[in-house]
Amino acid sequence: MRVERIGDAVLYLADCREVLPTLTGVDAVVTDPPFGMAFRSGYRNVFHKAIANDDNEALLQFACSLPALHSRYVFCRWDNLSAVPKPRSVITWVKNNWSMGDLEHEHARQKEEILFYPGPQHRFPRYRPSDVIEAPRTGNDHHPTEKPVQLMCAIVEWTQGVVLDPFMGSGTTGVACARLRRPFIGIELDSEYFEIACERISAAQRQPADMFSAATQAAPAYQPTLLDHIPQDPADEHVARLWQEPEV
Ligand SMILES: C[S@@+](CC[C@H](N)C(=O)[O-])C[C@H]1O[C@@H](n2cnc3c(N)ncnc32)[C@H](O)[C@@H]1O
Repeated sequence: MRVERIGDAVLYLADCREVLPTLTGVDAVVTDPPFGMAFRSGYRNVFHKAIANDDNEALLQFACSLPALHSRYVFCRWDNLSAVPKPRSVITWVKNNWSMGDLEHEHARQKEEILFYPGPQHRFPRYRPSDVIEAPRTGNDHHPTEKPVQLMCAIVEWTQGVVLDPFMGSGTTGVACARLRRPFIGIELDSEYFEIACERISAAQRQPADMFSAATQAAPAYQPTLLDHIPQDPADEHVARLWQEPEV
């Protein structure tokens, strides 16, 4: 195990199941765990190494039941819903692109789900947020399932106190916390992603707080209309090549 303290952030290179029993004082869990993408959908990642422990839903279930005084927000896919404890809300993240899937027999995927579990001390810090949130996708430059900082800032702003991400990957939740000047605990098993997380969080903490004023505003609630059409860019080879689906 390695521990790095970077300003208000404490980062562990470790298996979170070993670190979590030693932690106290976690107010909010904001996390994107492995949720069995390989197991559920047969996805084959052709550009990045496989995500550790992504072959079943055990760590997703573990994340959904972590103790947190204020709240838990846990990413998953719609087809994990039968495997997790019933959440109070299922938040839909609408992206500005869609991914491939089964081109003939499946609607184009343009959303992901975020499970919300309030803790015993929960209240919304500023206002009651919508259960639909818009944010553009990332180019996955740091991690194959990297989340947008804008999205993570919006989610962190729905929480209070110390934020824990036990599956921090490239540290996007920690970057959001740095921008919002919130204390953060992050844990990552993979040393390559851990190094990236340390660098990104350190860089975000060095920036003046007001530099991120636009990024710290929650993304507006999604207002779908019949005219709302976001075309898939056929030139976006990155998306097309990133995930290669098996034949159905
Ligand atoms: C879905 S990714 C998170 C990506 C992150 N949201 C980002 O923006 O970079 C899940 C991460 O959990 C890590 N992981 C898997 N099992 C773990 C464990 N037992 N303890 C800590 N991290 C683990 C994987 O290495 C992977 O980087």
